[in-house]
Amino acid sequence: MQNQAYKQILFRTNRRKQMIPHILYQLSRIFGDGPLTNQDCRQITDSCSSLSFSDQMRVWTRLICLQPILKAINQYIPTTPGRIIDLGSGYGVLSWLLASSRKQEILGIEVSLPRLAIAQQITKDIQNLTFEHGDIANIAVEPSSTILLIDVLCLFPIGTQQRILFSCADSLTNNGILLLKDNTTIPKWKFHYASLEERVKLFLGIYSIPTLEQPNYLSPDTWRNLITRSNLKIRDEFLVKSLAPYPGIIYICQKSS
Ligand SMILES: C[S@@+](CC[C@H](N)C(=O)[O-])C[C@H]1O[C@@H](n2cnc3c(N)ncnc32)[C@H](O)[C@@H]1O
Repeated sequence: MQNQAYKQILFRTNRRKQMIPHILYQLSRIFGDGPLTNQDCRQITDSCSSLSFSDQMRVWTRLICLQPILKAINQYIPTTPGRIIDLGSGYGVLSWLLASSRKQEILGIEVSLPRLAIAQQITKDIQNLTFEHGDIANIAVEPSSTILLIDVLCLFPIGTQQRILFSCADSLTNNGILLLKDNTTIPKWKFHYASLEERVKLFLGIYSIPTLEQPNYLSPDTWRNLITRSNLKIRDEFLVKSLAPYPGIIYICQKSS
């Protein structure tokens, strides 16, 4: 009888475990089109199963936002040998997905120690991926063929944003690409929602570091000016199409000649 009850609990737990990747995959589609698959979601959920439930939730929440970013990366970042640097790599989910589908060497730099620890733990079996502790506002970026700045520049005042972009321009190899994804100020309703959500997160100190009190989301014109004043040229620019309430914008940049 006890054996039967135990089997039932085990069966239910396994079924719940199998449903989570599927639910995450369906949710990810709200954030836009992209190459993330059910299988990717399963692998990520498996690799973070040793984390506490709250840390797993943090990883899952990031995972579901990545479809449009992965799509842009697949479209613009060649798979030819070279180094990809992910500045402000967070829980390492994006780097994880890139490292598992590409042979390039990938390096994530993250300032928050709890986030870095999670990234290192969930990617410990991946050979071409490393994470280092660092403050991207104060390091010289290593020479790279690709630099990713994903949802991180908005955490800095404009002077620091420019310094980081200059440093990226210096480190890009010829024909190298900087992919910058952040939020912008249009459409207005998404801007107001995303600003409010981020203000709450900053108030709660979710990055475990001193930050601005509100995110520095710039208008498309201001992003454009900032990029082109930082020794970079814009090869392509587009708003992220998604049902989610975040006003994402992506810039594909190269060193100006
Ligand atoms: C919104 S998260 C984005 C994480 C990651 N890029 C992604 O797409 O999943 C922003 C990340 O930037 C990190 N960050 C903030 N300031 C930083 C700094 N000065 N140096 C390095 N990382 C920083 C935060 O700790 C956080 O993990």
